[in-house]
Amino acid sequence: QIAILDFGSQYSHLIARRVRELNVFCELYSCLVEPQVLARNKVVGVILSGGPHSVYEAGSPHVHAEVWKMIEEKKLPVLGICYGMQEIAHVFGGKVAPGLEREYGKAIVSHIDANKAAGEALVGDLPAEFQMWMSHGDKLHSVPTGFVDILRTSNSQHAGIANPEKKMYGLQFHPEVTHSPLGKDLLRNFVVNICGAPTNWNMLDIADEFVREVRERVGPEGKVIGAVSGGVDSTVAAVLLKTAIGDRFHAILVDNGCLRKNEAVEVVDRMRNKLGINLRCVDAADRFLGLLAGKTEPEEKRKIIGTTFIDIFQEEALKIGAVDYLLQGTLYPDVIESISYKGPSAVIKSHHNVGGLPATMHLKLIEPLRELFKDEVRTLGIALGVEEFSVWRHPFPGPGLAIRCLGELNMENLDMLREADAILIEELNRAGIYREIGQAFAVLLPVKSVGVMGDFRTYEKVCAIRCVQTTDYMTADWYHMPYEVLGRISNRIINEVRGINRVVYDISSKPPATIEWE
Ligand code: XMP
Repeated sequence: QIAILDFGSQYSHLIARRVRELNVFCELYSCLVEPQVLARNKVVGVILSGGPHSVYEAGSPHVHAEVWKMIEEKKLPVLGICYGMQEIAHVFGGKVAPGLEREYGKAIVSHIDANKAAGEALVGDLPAEFQMWMSHGDKLHSVPTGFVDILRTSNSQHAGIANPEKKMYGLQFHPEVTHSPLGKDLLRNFVVNICGAPTNWNMLDIADEFVREVRERVGPEGKVIGAVSGGVDSTVAAVLLKTAIGDRFHAILVDNGCLRKNEAVEVVDRMRNKLGINLRCVDAADRFLGLLAGKTEPEEKRKIIGTTFIDIFQEEALKIGAVDYLLQGTLYPDVIESISYKGPSAVIKSHHNVGGLPATMHLKLIEPLRELFKDEVRTLGIALGVEEFSVWRHPFPGPGLAIRCLGELNMENLDMLREADAILIEELNRAGIYREIGQAFAVLLPVKSVGVMGDFRTYEKVCAIRCVQTTDYMTADWYHMPYEVLGRISNRIINEVRGINRVVYDISSKPPATIEWE
């Protein structure tokens, strides 16, 4: 494996992700990892991540002296990225000091021809000039003993350093981010060519490893519960748990009356019958709709749904008895957000998801997906045999159609919305554009407009269609839908859904609009 020692950069997991994309097994360790921990695994190379500290400051983190000794004894190749390079400099006698100004953004990197041979293995096949992403304050002022400069930018003579005898390299820039288009080639050169790491690792290995870990943690008797929605994250997480502990994993699907058309039935069929997951479905539609009756204020609706969901979940947990662990489908982007965010924030929308559960229940968390990005979860889902329909499903918010049925919530409006939504999704699939879109849904507006159908005047509801493209759901652009598809969707909704006589298309991006309407 490749050992990545994490100095706390927000990109550390991206290094792991890139290495995994090369089908090479890697693990992320604390930068302070003890040598015995590393010695337990067959490490063939080490990557030192970036980090927010300055190597010359007292109290800044450093790799354990015994780990350096092990690296030298085993002649392990090392690649230091940003702080990681400065750590190499710190240990081998280079000089690091604050740069005159922080360097942040794209930089053009070129080779230092005089030292071409030293950089050959790492960057020899890269073009004369290439773009990489910089994000640093400190800079190398002199190279450490035994190293030479191999790359430079207009701003720095020391953008890359090498000691080919020791197979040690340092980079001032971040090859792991997408703004460094050739970064993956560079990482491949290090991991595959220089370290000689085997390239036979795949997503199923992640699954095996996780299954082993859960069995060890939960023991032969322990029970785990988890809420499922039928979306890709909760489905993949549930399959992993079922594989690890069988029926001691209890999945709970709460039907709050605000699910999509046939959703509860289909999720039960897929999860229970096809995937063999121990699933209980709680039909709580009346309870939710009773509590939501007459409520029109979005935050109030969200609060009611959130707290009722927790109540039901707890009631079900009590019925199962002595549960020790809670499964959560946390993904890596959620982890980065919660770690990197420090200050107080204005509540834009009080998101309801399972994250609100554990405090009162004193359950220990199991988060199998916390190191993965959404597309990796999808790849894992496919590797685990989850059907494509679930794997590629757009995300669906916890409060469901309640926040897409604006204003008053009742079964009649919800059913109208369910029909319109089902038509939309059907047409997107028929046109073959469902996967181009990050999220697509219908919204029922609390507005009536006049229309004419046959010889009759109508006075009915307006339905808005919202389709967005996004990578992270933090920002989004409205989807430029082909007119013919829009036309078909509008025609079918107006003709087939009684109570709707007008369809509009939402062309707002986020920000300033949000993806959901409430
Ligand atoms: P907004 O509307 O804030 O939505 O732009 C961003 C993403 O979050 C989803 N969303 C939710 N997901 N519980 C969830 O699990 C919620 O309460 C919730 N509210 C919004 C939304 O569907 C979009 O994908």
